[in-house]
Amino acid sequence: MRKAAGKRFRLLCCLCSVLILVCQALYGCGEKDVPVRDEKLIRVGFSQVGSESDWRMANTASMISALSESSGFELIFDNAKQRQENQFLAIRNFIQQDVDYIVLAPIAESGWDDVLQEAKNAGIPVIIVDRQIDVGDESLYTSWVGSNFLAEGERAIRWLEGAIQQQGRLNQPLRILHIQGTDGATAQIQRTKALNDAVRTHPGWTVVSRLKGEYTEAKAYELVRDFLSSGEPIDVIYSENDNMSFGAIRALDEAGISYGRDGDVMIISFDAVRDALKLCLEGKINICVECNPLHGPRVASLITQLESGETPPKLTYVDETFFSSGVLSEELIEEREY
Ligand code: AHR
Repeated sequence: MRKAAGKRFRLLCCLCSVLILVCQALYGCGEKDVPVRDEKLIRVGFSQVGSESDWRMANTASMISALSESSGFELIFDNAKQRQENQFLAIRNFIQQDVDYIVLAPIAESGWDDVLQEAKNAGIPVIIVDRQIDVGDESLYTSWVGSNFLAEGERAIRWLEGAIQQQGRLNQPLRILHIQGTDGATAQIQRTKALNDAVRTHPGWTVVSRLKGEYTEAKAYELVRDFLSSGEPIDVIYSENDNMSFGAIRALDEAGISYGRDGDVMIISFDAVRDALKLCLEGKINICVECNPLHGPRVASLITQLESGETPPKLTYVDETFFSSGVLSEELIEEREY
């Protein structure tokens, strides 16, 4: 009798467990933390580099505004705080959440093969934005959009050649302080390449020091301050972004060294964000080479093309220019979006 009752009890438990499982599968019972997915929206996971610069903030704002719900997207945003491990983690989370697309703004070019292979295995298209990636298998990403960082560097060098020619210093020694961005980022690699190529072809030019400013104002300020305390003279600062130029300017001010259009040290800066353009208009930065951060609508358009079955170009370079004080005005600066 007791044996039969035990058997009936076990059967009941078994039935209950099956019922719970079916209920969970159908209605998500017991998974209160998992948000209900709106099937009409295109789900995009975006792994952003960090918030290291004004450029980056403008880029984030552009992405968030273009990939909004009102435009048909559900955006899952992750700030990697300038650490590649955080980007790996974010991408794996996006895969788990079964997003429709992964958008990656990579910190550095290398190291992506494994994690992007996982995304490919999961059937999730990956779009790369801003810096590029260096992978063995190009099919690991669908499309890239960003700047031609080498062309930016070459634009800066052409301006420098013209400026020193005007000053009648073309064949004289030129001492350059080089402030570099994050090691291994396309923006760093290509802007550095443009400078190195120029130094090779101009016998009088030397890079007196290379400082690793990581694209931040704080780091560049510290490094330039320490460098200037050595008393070594410089003629040019080649700074691989505006925020590092801001840090350098603070250090120059503290050291009592003049700079800009009428000063002893020429400042070459990349990005052309609003505060840098204002300094350029005042003559404190000699040249701002534009790096356009407004990639949000470009990424949204790539996704739309993929959604309608089109094959977007593998690489899309955006058009850019440069600014020196002669071409700038307050109105022009105000009209710009960043
Ligand atoms: O990759 C673009 C670079 O990254 C920008 O020049 C810089 O400001 C940013 O942090």
